[in-house]
Amino acid sequence: MATSLIRNGTVLSDAGRMAADVLVENGVIARVGRGLPESADTVIDASGRFVLPGGVDAHTHLDMPAGDITSTDDFETGTIAAAHGGTTTIVDFATPEPGESLLAALDTWRAKAEGKAVVDYGFHMVLREFGERTASEVRLLANREGVTSFKMFMAYPGRLMADDGSISGAMRGTRDQGGLVMIHAENGRAIEVLIAEALQRGDTAPRFHALTRPVGAEAEAASRAIALAEMAAAPVFIVHLSSAEALEALRVGRARGVAVFAETCPQYLCLSDAEYERPDFEAAKFVMSPPLRPAPHQEALWRGLAARDLDTVGTDHCPFGFSDPPHKQRGRDDFSKIPNGAPGIETRLMLLWDEGVRTGRITPERFVEITAAAPAKIFGLWPRKGTIAEGSDADIVLWDPDASVAISASTHHMRVDYSLYEGRTVTGVPEAVLSRGELIVDRGAFVGRKGRGRFLRRGAAGAASA
Ligand code: URP
Ligand code: ZN
Ligand code: ZN
Repeated sequence: MATSLIRNGTVLSDAGRMAADVLVENGVIARVGRGLPESADTVIDASGRFVLPGGVDAHTHLDMPAGDITSTDDFETGTIAAAHGGTTTIVDFATPEPGESLLAALDTWRAKAEGKAVVDYGFHMVLREFGERTASEVRLLANREGVTSFKMFMAYPGRLMADDGSISGAMRGTRDQGGLVMIHAENGRAIEVLIAEALQRGDTAPRFHALTRPVGAEAEAASRAIALAEMAAAPVFIVHLSSAEALEALRVGRARGVAVFAETCPQYLCLSDAEYERPDFEAAKFVMSPPLRPAPHQEALWRGLAARDLDTVGTDHCPFGFSDPPHKQRGRDDFSKIPNGAPGIETRLMLLWDEGVRTGRITPERFVEITAAAPAKIFGLWPRKGTIAEGSDADIVLWDPDASVAISASTHHMRVDYSLYEGRTVTGVPEAVLSRGELIVDRGAFVGRKGRGRFLRRGAAGAASA
C-alpha cells in the first residue's frame, strides 16, 4: 500500500483551517491530524503552505467541435494545463449532434477523454430539446452513467438554442432523477436582431459582439430560466453569469424560494469591456458569450461571491487560436463569425487568490468553497472531491501564498497562442499538485502520466452548496 505524509501545512477547507498533517494511503486521505507518524513511503514538507483540496472546474470545453473547427485543447493538453493551475477535477460538456442519442454522445466524449486526461473528469450532457426519447435517456444517464447535470442554451438560435417548452420539460424530467438543468442565459432571438442590425449598418468590428449581447439579454433570460424552474419546482444552475442585473434576477428568485445556483468566471471578475477597444483585431481574443461587461459589474460579482449569492467559479475554458491556428481571424470582416470562447483552465485559482483573497474580497475558506467544495457538492461529487477529509480522494494542492508568477502565453500550458491576462503578475501559486495521491505537478513541472484520469460517475446534482 503506497503511503504519503504531507507534514506541517495549514489544511484549508470551506469550513475553516487547521495546522495538520495529511496521511494518504492508496490514493485516498486516510487521516488528517497533528503529529501523524512519519512512517510513510513519501514525506512532503508543507511548512508555510496551505494544503487545499484540488480545484473542481465544472465548466470546460475540451476537444469541442464548433462548425468545422475544434477548441484547441484536447483532454490531454487541457487537463495538463488544469493540473498546472491546481485543478484536479473537471466536468466537461458532451454535446450530441442534432437527433443523436444522448448515450451515443456520452460514448463519443468518454472516448475523447479516455487514455488522454491526466485528472479525473465527468460530463454534463447538452440537451437541445426534451421529448420522450430524451426523457428515457436522461433516466439512464442519471441512474446508470452518473451524468446528472444537463446544459441548455437560451442563446445560439439555429444551433443549440432550446425553446422554453423544452427547458420546462427538461426541468420536470430531470428533477426526479436527481438531475440539474444548467442554463446559458442570453435571449438568443433578441440578440439575433441586434446582430443583423449591426451588420447592416456596417458595424463589423469585434466590439460589436459585446454591444449586440447587452446585459438586458442576459438578465431577461436568467429571470425567465428562474421562473421556469419555479413553475417546474426544480433547481436550476445559471452558468457564466456576467452582470449585476443577472445577479439581481438570481437574488429575486432566491427570495421567492427558487433553488437557483449560479457560477461566474474569472474573466468576468478580472476583465472589463475595455478589452474590446484594443486595436489590430486583438479584441477578438476576448470574444466570448456572454461578453465582458463594463467595469462596475466586476465589483458587483465579487460582492455576490462574498455574500454567497454566487456559488461557484468555473472557467468556461473554450480556447480558439488567434493566429495559429487562425480561428479568431474568421471574423475579421464580421464579428458574428468570430468563434466564441476563451482560454482559462490554468489560471482560475491563481487569479482568484490574487484578485480575491489578497485584496480581502473573499476569505481563503470562501476561495476553497467557490473553487472546489461548492462545485463538488452541487454536481454530485462531494465528499469524494472538494475537501481534505478522511475517505476523500487525495486530490491535494500545496499552495504557496507568497510566490508570484507572470501569466503569459509563452509559458502557459494551454494549447492556445494567447492569454487573456498576458503580462499580469499574480501572487499565490500551486507548488505541488496530487491527484488521487500521485504527484502530478512538482514546482512547475508536469510529472504525471497521460491517461491516468478517470471518468467520474456523479451522484445527484442540485443539492444546497452551503
Ligand atoms: O463563448 C463561450 N462561452 N463559448 C463556450 C460555449 C458556451 O456558451 O459556454
Ligand atoms: Zn454557455
Ligand atoms: Zn461554456
